[in-house]
Amino acid sequence: MTAPSVTESRLERARDALAERDLEALICFPSSNLTYLSGFEDEPMERHLFLFVTPERALFVAPEMYDHQIREASPVEDVRTWSDDEDPTRLLEAVGDDLGIGEGRLLVDDRMWALFTQDLRATFPDATFGLASEVLEALRIRKDEAELEALREAARISDRVSEEIRAFGPAAIGMTEAELAAEIETRLEDAGGAGVSFETVVGGGPNGARPHHRHGDREIEPGDPVVLDFGTRYEGYPGDQTRTVVFDGEPCERFLDVHDAVLEAHHAGVEAVGPGVEAREVDRAARQVLEERGYGEGFIHRTGHGVGLDVHEPPYITSENDRELEPGMVFSVEPGVYLEGAFGVRIEDLVVVTDDGVERLNDSPRTWRPLEGRE
Ligand code: GLY
Ligand code: MN
Ligand code: MN
Repeated sequence: MTAPSVTESRLERARDALAERDLEALICFPSSNLTYLSGFEDEPMERHLFLFVTPERALFVAPEMYDHQIREASPVEDVRTWSDDEDPTRLLEAVGDDLGIGEGRLLVDDRMWALFTQDLRATFPDATFGLASEVLEALRIRKDEAELEALREAARISDRVSEEIRAFGPAAIGMTEAELAAEIETRLEDAGGAGVSFETVVGGGPNGARPHHRHGDREIEPGDPVVLDFGTRYEGYPGDQTRTVVFDGEPCERFLDVHDAVLEAHHAGVEAVGPGVEAREVDRAARQVLEERGYGEGFIHRTGHGVGLDVHEPPYITSENDRELEPGMVFSVEPGVYLEGAFGVRIEDLVVVTDDGVERLNDSPRTWRPLEGRE
């Protein structure tokens, strides 16, 4: 007997979780959940494409044109197809009868379009509905060794590009944020990444005060703090790191103090990480530094978020989350201070909870200086 593939064992764990909770089925839509369970990946689209998982079985409902693609990517052998001239809801009814579902509780993908949840509600009017995360969050939140290796490599690629971009120094002056973002993205691809984790953030001067400013036409000026937040995917897993750099010229005094405070908060957050620690203790460790240094009001977001197939996923490192951290959890530690109209500073690494502490996935210099060593 051959060992089950990664997706086979994930499907088995999902089936066991359904059985334990007396749930009828899990219904996934193209999303990270579907990729996690089946190995098949696609964009969400207007055609009906679902993975049904029950305590006993798994099957796809898919457009005919996807038949071979799904069979190649996934160990799920039962693929029921519909053609573009058919009404896919008829197939849903037949699948429901075949699986014997519709009287109990069904979990639908958290990111399924409303268009399709409406169809499922109409097809199974007597069922009650919940979200797939009820069972999948517990499976996905601790990463296995292969997932960790992919995340480590994605982080290494981001680190390398971070160092290369920082080394632009005075050459970055006069470039627009969009030009710098294009440089970053080309280098991520050249270093072995596949696509960006999210739209690259290059926030120069006042734009850095908007945590999710992307990039625009503003030119980088001497003395500008520039928030550089980016990542690429490696084997499907994303990098996500932030550094705040002054490429040339002298930054203002206030920036020096803010950067120093954010760096201290970042290290305090990472140092607080360990198994058995509540997520909110990590947030507290970082937030307390910024409060004590007078910048508490400028820290306008949570300290971090889990990272896996989704770049934002549980566990969320917020002031309220009392969930205990466990080995294998991966998340960001990214305190920031945002001074509207002036500048922003954020410093972000990804970390893994280990059996006895924490492993940082990122190791590029955290200084604001363009060419100097590590902090
Ligand atoms: N740029 C997204 C994040 O760091 O959360
Ligand atoms: Mn980020
Ligand atoms: Mn992040």
